[in-house]
Amino acid sequence: MTGPAMTVPAPEAQRALAAHYYTDAEAWRADRALILNTWQLVGHDAQMPAPGDFITADLFDQSFFVIRDDDGGLRAYANVCPHRGHQLVKGCGNKSRISCPYHAWTFARDGRLIGLQRTPSSVTPTRADVRLFDVPVATLAGFVLINPSGKAPPLATFAPGLAQQIDAACPDLARYVIEDGPALGHSYDCAANWKVLIDNYLECHHCGVAHASFDDMMDIKASRFELWPHFTRQIAPTAGKSETAAFALNLAHDVTVGHFWWLFPNTVLGQFPGVPGFYASRFDPVSEGQTKRRSWSLTTPVATDPDMARRAQARSDWSVQIVSQEDRALCESVQIGLQHEAFRHGWYVTDPQAHGLSEHAMQHFHTLYLSALEAQPCISP
Ligand code: FES
Ligand SMILES: [Fe+2]
Repeated sequence: MTGPAMTVPAPEAQRALAAHYYTDAEAWRADRALILNTWQLVGHDAQMPAPGDFITADLFDQSFFVIRDDDGGLRAYANVCPHRGHQLVKGCGNKSRISCPYHAWTFARDGRLIGLQRTPSSVTPTRADVRLFDVPVATLAGFVLINPSGKAPPLATFAPGLAQQIDAACPDLARYVIEDGPALGHSYDCAANWKVLIDNYLECHHCGVAHASFDDMMDIKASRFELWPHFTRQIAPTAGKSETAAFALNLAHDVTVGHFWWLFPNTVLGQFPGVPGFYASRFDPVSEGQTKRRSWSLTTPVATDPDMARRAQARSDWSVQIVSQEDRALCESVQIGLQHEAFRHGWYVTDPQAHGLSEHAMQHFHTLYLSALEAQPCISP
């Protein structure tokens, strides 16, 4: 199980991460390496129920795919053919074997080269020398993550206790089914650096000011951000009202205490208040000033009550039309401000009691971020 949460960092370090980390091309190159060196969310186990089912994921200019092997396990590969570099698969689907569209070199699901065009006199590479480029893959609460560079420690070592926390907070999660569509409105584009979006996710100092309807539904001051070495958890109770300015809650059937996790550097997962469900998102850097939030969401296989679908729709509408728009506008304004020559760095407001208005989780992110850059000279800006 997870050990005790870390304490809030000492208050002498109240200067926030310098603005150039959010705006410079050099920092952007460092961020690219950081992202490729860490665990990246690419989908959910349920998207690949049968052997041969696969999904693809693009991270920066690098393409990857994850496929269900004959033994039921998942395998991940760079989406590039070892022969000449052609892309192997597109989108998602099912492959009994992976045959390259260029010269038809063919690979088994376990990555072995099993066929290529040849004549009896052809001289070819030794098959044992050639296989698909393996990429580490892991699951967390059913979600699938890959480590593109292969340099990250195993996920269970990197974030010990995270899976157990999710399991304890959402014991029915394994029964949930994946939803098609826009994932509760959690997928969107934002004209801001990815770290601005993570900062925004990791503090609720702004919630009462900028999210009036969310603030009405929640008891923000009673919420808590807890820190662990590479992840955080926010436990966020609602105010206990069934009618709220955000959407209606059925206090008998719905989730009334939200749980929001963040995994360093750019993954978030959680159970939002309202009808039972779960989401996970990757904040995908598109450029220094542009981020795409990609999300997957789950819901219960059977409705908890006859009105559940209506409440789910109301929450989704609110998420798409209200709170996501509010956060996007906040982050886009911050990105403009970070580029201002007058602005060199921000400030943290932290509280040793770690209450819901404290920005110590965001501070924790920045500490981890700077440590990661320092620890890996190849990605230091
Ligand atoms: S590049 Fe794939 S078979 Fe030639
Ligand atoms: Fe927000």
